[in-house]
Amino acid sequence: MHISLSLPQQRKPPQTVAVSPPHPILVQAQPMPRRKFVRRALLALVGAFTATSAVATFKLLYPTNVTGFGAKVVAGSVQEVTARLADQKYLRNTQGNFYLLPATQEHVIAVYWKCVHLGCTVPAPASALSGNIQCPCHGSLYNGKTGDLIHGPATRPLDYFPVTVQNGNVIVDTGQIITRQAFDMGQTTKLA
Ligand code: FES
Repeated sequence: MHISLSLPQQRKPPQTVAVSPPHPILVQAQPMPRRKFVRRALLALVGAFTATSAVATFKLLYPTNVTGFGAKVVAGSVQEVTARLADQKYLRNTQGNFYLLPATQEHVIAVYWKCVHLGCTVPAPASALSGNIQCPCHGSLYNGKTGDLIHGPATRPLDYFPVTVQNGNVIVDTGQIITRQAFDMGQTTKLA
C-alpha cells in the first residue's frame, strides 16, 4: 500500500514592485468644466470687443489718412505755385475745392469756390471779365485776385482757407472755411 504524504507548500514572500508615475504625456487631460469654459469664452469675447472698439475710437479721434476737401491739401511746391500764378493767374485745385489767387506778386489767398449767395460753384477767373470771377447762377462778380465782392446779389466776398508754407510746399487747410465781410492783406500768405 502506497501512502503519499504531501507537505504544506511554502508561500513566497510578497515582492515589492516599483511603480513608476504615469508619464505626463500619457495622462489623459480632464475636460474643462462647462461653466468655466463658457466664462473664459465670454471674457475672451469681451476682451476682443474692447480692443476693437479702442482701435476704432483712436482712428476716429486721430485720423491719419484724411485727404481732400475737409483736410489739409498740398497745392504744390512754392516754385510750382509761383510759376503757375505768374503764368495762368490762378491755380485750380479740385481736391480741395479752391482757387489759389495771386493777391500780390508775393502773396496768395485760397478762396472756396462755392458762391456765398446760394452755393453754386464759381468758375476760374476769366480774361473776358478782366480776370474776375462770375457766378453762372445769378451773376455775382468777385475780384479774381482776392475773391472780394464786386457786385451781388451775393453780399460778401468768397470764403477763404488758411494757407501755410511747410517744407517748401504750399498747404491749404480746407478744414477751416473762413467768412469775411471785406478783403484785407491779413487773409493772404507770403510765399517767398
Ligand atoms: S449762387 Fe452765385 S450768384 Fe446766386
